[in-house]
Amino acid sequence: MDDKPAGLGAASLDVKGQQVSLPIMKGTLGPDVVDIRKLYGEADVFTFDPGFTSTASCESAITFIDGDKGVLLHRGYPIDQLAEKSNFLEVCYLLLNGELPTAGEFAKFDKHITYHTMLHEQFDRFFGGFRRDAHPMAIMVGAVGALSAFYHDSTDIHDPEQREISAHRLIAKMPTIAARAFKYSLGQPFVHPRNELGYAENFLRMCFAVPAEDYVSNPVLTRAMDRIFTLHADHEQNASTSTVRLAGSSGANPFACIAAGIACLWGPSHGGANEEALNMLKEIGTPERIPEFIAGVKDRKYRLMGFGHRVYKNYDPRAKVMQQSAKEVLAEVGDPNDPLLQVAQELERIALHDEFFVERKLYPNVDFYSGITLSAMGFPPEMFTVLFALARTVGWIAQWKEMISDPSQKIGRPRQLYTGPAQRDFVPLEQRG
Ligand code: CMC
Repeated sequence: MDDKPAGLGAASLDVKGQQVSLPIMKGTLGPDVVDIRKLYGEADVFTFDPGFTSTASCESAITFIDGDKGVLLHRGYPIDQLAEKSNFLEVCYLLLNGELPTAGEFAKFDKHITYHTMLHEQFDRFFGGFRRDAHPMAIMVGAVGALSAFYHDSTDIHDPEQREISAHRLIAKMPTIAARAFKYSLGQPFVHPRNELGYAENFLRMCFAVPAEDYVSNPVLTRAMDRIFTLHADHEQNASTSTVRLAGSSGANPFACIAAGIACLWGPSHGGANEEALNMLKEIGTPERIPEFIAGVKDRKYRLMGFGHRVYKNYDPRAKVMQQSAKEVLAEVGDPNDPLLQVAQELERIALHDEFFVERKLYPNVDFYSGITLSAMGFPPEMFTVLFALARTVGWIAQWKEMISDPSQKIGRPRQLYTGPAQRDFVPLEQRG
C-alpha cells in the first residue's frame, strides 16, 4: 500500500518492570491501533486475544464498519447508497479497483466478467461425483477448489495480470458453479450462461430455467437478487475473509484460498445463519409462540438466529435494506401477509424492546430477513449460504489482492499460550501403569 497510516505517538507498556514503547498508528476512520510487532522481540511476551476481539490483523482500504453507529462503507460509499443506486457488478469494480468505474471502464469490466462465465466442459463431470443429496456448500467447497486444476494460466500469484484474470474468473464462474450445484440437487439439466443477460438475471435463469419451457425473468426478483449480492459483497476482516487472507499468506493460489473461505463461511455462526434463521422462524410458526421461544433464548437453550453481531452493536445497515427487499419480493411473488414475515416482524419488535437483547446490544443482522426473501424467490434453505458465498467472492478476492500487493505482507503465523505438559521423558509401553 502506498499511503501508510500516520503515526500517533506511542503507548507505553510495563512488562515485569521493563518499559516497552509501542507506536500508535492511525487510519482514516475507526480506532487507532497499537503496533505490537516488536513486543515479543523486546519483552519476550505475546499478546493474548482469542477470537481477535481487539486485534487488527492487517491494513485495509476496502471496507469500513462502525459497529456502534451501524455504518458500513465500501471504499467510502455507504452500503445503503450502493444498494439503492448502484448494482452488484459496479460494486465489484469498486471493491477491486478502489473507485467507481467510468462508463467505459464499466463496459469493459462487464464484458470481461460476462465472457468468463462458462466452465471448462470437463468441469461438469466433477458434479457427477457428488451424491444427489450432497449439501450444495459441500459441492461449492470442492468445485471451487477444483478450479485450480483447470485454470493453470492464472495461478501465478506474483503476476498482477494473472491475479486480475483469476479475480475476474472467480466472480464470473461462481454463479455458474452455484447454479449447477442447485440443478444437480434437483436432478435437472444444467443451464448454460447467456451473454446478453445481466449478472443477477443470468444467475436466476441458470437456477430456474428448464428445457421444457421458456424462461421469463421477473425484474423485481432480478433487482432483489442483485441487491442481495450487493449487500453481501464484502464485510471487512470477518472469519471467512480472514481465512482467505491466512490461506493466501502462504502463497496458495486464489482458487484454493476462496475454497477455504467458503468452508469457513458455511458455519452457522457465520454465513450458515440465514439457513438457521429461516428454520427458526418456521419452527416458531405463529406470533403467539414467540414469548415461549424468547424464554428459551433467555434460558440459553438456543440463540435467536439472525440476531447479534461481533461488530454491529446497533442495527445492521444491511438488515434495513434486506427488510425492504423482503417486503418487495413477497408483494411480487409471495404472500405479503406471509406468516413467516409476520413472525419475523413481531420477533424483531419484541426483541428490540426486551431488556435481555437491549442490554447485550443484539439487533437484527443481514441474515434475519434474507432467508424469507430467498425462500419466496424459490431457493431452498440449503442454497442460502451458497448465494452468500457467490456474493462474498468479490470481497474475498479484493482482500486477497490487496494483501498480495502489500509489501509488508508476511505468512500469517499466530502464536499461543501453551497450557500442555512441560517437557518429560518418553515411557516405554511395558513400563506404563
Ligand atoms: N441470541 C441470543 N443471545 C445472544 C445472541 C443471539 N443471537 N448473540 C449473542 N448473544 C448473547 C450471548 O449469549 C452473550 O450473552 P452473555 O454475555 O450473557 O453470555 C452475549 O450476547 C455476547 O455473545 P457473544 O457470543 O460473546 O458475541 P459474539 O460477538 O462472539 O457473537 C455472533 C457474534 C454473530 C456469533 C452471535 O451474535 C450469534 O451467534 N448470532 C446468531 C448467529 C447469526 O445470526 N450469525 C450471523 C452473523 S451476520 C452474518 C455474517 O457476518 O456471517
